[in-house]
Amino acid sequence: MDKNINDILEYLQKFNGFNYSAYHIGMLERRIKNRIVKTNTDNVHNYYSFLTTIPDEPKRLTENFMINVSNFFRDPLCFELLARIFIPDLVKEKQKLNDDTLRVWSAGCSHGEEAYSLAILINEFREHEKLDLNLDLFATDYDEKAIESAQNGTYSPGSMKEVKLGLVEKYFVVKDGKYTVIPELKSMVHFSVYDLLQKNSHAPSESIFGDFDLILCRNVLIYFNLDFQEQIINRLHKSLAANGILVLGESEVLLPRHTDKFRPQSTYCKFFKKTGS
Ligand SMILES: C[S@@+](CC[C@H](N)C(=O)[O-])C[C@H]1O[C@@H](n2cnc3c(N)ncnc32)[C@H](O)[C@@H]1O
Repeated sequence: MDKNINDILEYLQKFNGFNYSAYHIGMLERRIKNRIVKTNTDNVHNYYSFLTTIPDEPKRLTENFMINVSNFFRDPLCFELLARIFIPDLVKEKQKLNDDTLRVWSAGCSHGEEAYSLAILINEFREHEKLDLNLDLFATDYDEKAIESAQNGTYSPGSMKEVKLGLVEKYFVVKDGKYTVIPELKSMVHFSVYDLLQKNSHAPSESIFGDFDLILCRNVLIYFNLDFQEQIINRLHKSLAANGILVLGESEVLLPRHTDKFRPQSTYCKFFKKTGS
C-alpha cells in the first residue's frame, strides 16, 4: 500500500519521539516536500522508503521542521520598547520590593541572538543607571544544535544588521568576517535544551522555579496548532511572576480563552502583563 504523510510522521514519532500532532500540519507537509525535492525521491511513498532506510534521514527531517531563523534585535521596535519602558518599569517595581534581581527567559531562543540582545540591552540599562542589578537570564530551545551554536556565540554579518556600531565594538570580537560574543556577555546567559511541550515542568529546571519578570517567546507559537499554543501559553503564564510581562512575535496573537490571564500593554508590539495567579 502507498505510504502517506501520516505514515512519515508516525515513523518519526516512533523513531525519536517527535510530537508531530502539536504542529500545524500544513507546515509539516511543506517541510516534508522540501526533503522529497532535496533527496530526489519524487513522491511521499519513495521518500518513506528513503526515510526508513537511510540512517541520518530521520534526524535531517526533524531538523528541517525546526525553523531557526533569527537575528540580533529582531523587530527593533520591540527592543526599543523594552529598553525605554518595560525594563525600567519592571526594575522600579522590583526595587519597591527590595528585590535586586531581574529574572528573564528567552523561550525558543534559536541560536541565541534574542538572548544576547536582551543581555546587552539590560547590561546597558544597568550601566547607564548605575544600578546594582543582578540578571538571571535563561535561554532555551528544543533544538540541541541551536543551543550548542548559541553557547559558541559566533554569528555571520547577516544576523548583526540591527546591532549599533558602539555595541558591536563593546560586545563582539570580529575575526574572519564572523562576530563572536565576548566571554562577559556569554556568562550572562544560561542556555539549555528545553521542550516547551514537555509535561513534567513549567519552566527550565536550571531556573528552579520560574518566577520570571519577563518572558520572550517570539515566533515560536506560529508553528503549533491551537491546542498546543494554549498549553504553551498556560505554561508561560505559570512561569511568570505576578505582573510579569510576556512578549510574543509580531504575527502572533493570544487566544480569546487567554484574555482573563493577560492584559495587552502596547498597541505596537505584542506585550502582555500577567493578571491572576
Ligand atoms: C523562528 S525561531 C524563533 C527565534 C527567536 N525567538 C526569534 O524570534 O528570533 C523558532 C524556534 O522555536 C524552537 N522550537 C520549536 N519547537 C519547540 C519546542 N517544542 N520547544 C522549544 N522550542 C521549540 C525552534 O527550534 C526554533 O529555534
